[in-house]
Amino acid sequence: MNYLSQQNPADFHGKRVILRLDLNVPLNDAGHVDSTDADRIMKSLPTLKWLADAGAKTIVISHIGRDPKETLRPVARYMESVTTIGFDPELSGERLNEMIANMGNGHALLLENLRSNSGEESNDEAFAKSIADLGDIYVNDAFAVSHRAHASVVGIPKLLPHFAGLQMEQEIEHLSKSFSPSSPSILVLGGAKFETKLPVIQKFLGIVDHIVIGGALANNFYKAMGYDVGSSLIDETANVSGLLGNPKIIIPETVIVENEKGKEEKKVSDVARGDKIVDIAPSGLDLHADLFKNAAFVLWNGPMGNYENGFVDGSKKIVELIADSQAESIVGGGDSVALVEELDMSEKFGFLSTGGGAMLEYLAQGTLPGIEALR
Ligand code: 3PG
Repeated sequence: MNYLSQQNPADFHGKRVILRLDLNVPLNDAGHVDSTDADRIMKSLPTLKWLADAGAKTIVISHIGRDPKETLRPVARYMESVTTIGFDPELSGERLNEMIANMGNGHALLLENLRSNSGEESNDEAFAKSIADLGDIYVNDAFAVSHRAHASVVGIPKLLPHFAGLQMEQEIEHLSKSFSPSSPSILVLGGAKFETKLPVIQKFLGIVDHIVIGGALANNFYKAMGYDVGSSLIDETANVSGLLGNPKIIIPETVIVENEKGKEEKKVSDVARGDKIVDIAPSGLDLHADLFKNAAFVLWNGPMGNYENGFVDGSKKIVELIADSQAESIVGGGDSVALVEELDMSEKFGFLSTGGGAMLEYLAQGTLPGIEALR
């Protein structure tokens, strides 16, 4: 792997560096970036600084959202408040070429949403070339999108000398520790999207001592255990029967449900037709407090409850349990990381990954298309 940190800054002086960042952060109702959601932006600053100090002309590329019409303008506005960077709402054209030609050494310019061009997601060669032609060197510091074989992730590095940025290096260094953790070790998985989490559960059953499952994932287990889960969110495509009864898997059995009376804590055995499970009850997680207290390593991805609708108590309990233990800890996934930031607990965690889906895929596969492209 060619790490930027191991390069001589003098080799970057005056060079046009295409820097792939993942600036895909949520926007608030007013269309702005909230500082609690700016983790990915803040973590891109060290690489931007390295390149600025080296005297490079940094051309930052990123996507935002999935709608090609989304713009990076609000992100640019936020970035302007934390670093020195310009914004150009284009990905090509004479005006952009001229702007880049006039860039001073050490300056940075953010271009528009890569996904505004369909060639990004289809990894179109001509699109990759059109971006590669803007620069001399490519740096990928976008771990969080490196599971996508898109033009900016795997196409451009084929065309330019390529390096892994400082955050990418941190991600690889920390997440790779998960494959041989100190014991006792715990994996905590929540959220939904079983198809991205099942391969992680299967792989980590052979690696960690305990796997605690919450979020919508847990509902599948409750159903397979024969409980009535009412109208709870279930992934109909997932079959967990082969995992039932595995002594490593812990499914907390006290939940928060929403029903006509409002919000209630219930034993999962009491959940009825009119109930919707929306969170793991903190009291259900407390039963496992000793496990966390004695753990040497905890890896967490995905909230325990329906986070978007404000059911955060189960996830807060996980933050508390990890913060109270001496374990080396790694957390990933937008919601989990945002919660840690919101609770001002980042200091209590070993490493906060910028990756959500990318972290899961890295854990399941041991690498990512964007990492392979840098070899
Ligand atoms: C993410 O937020 O997980 C990355 O930016 C990738 O986004 P995507 O899931 O839309 O490809």
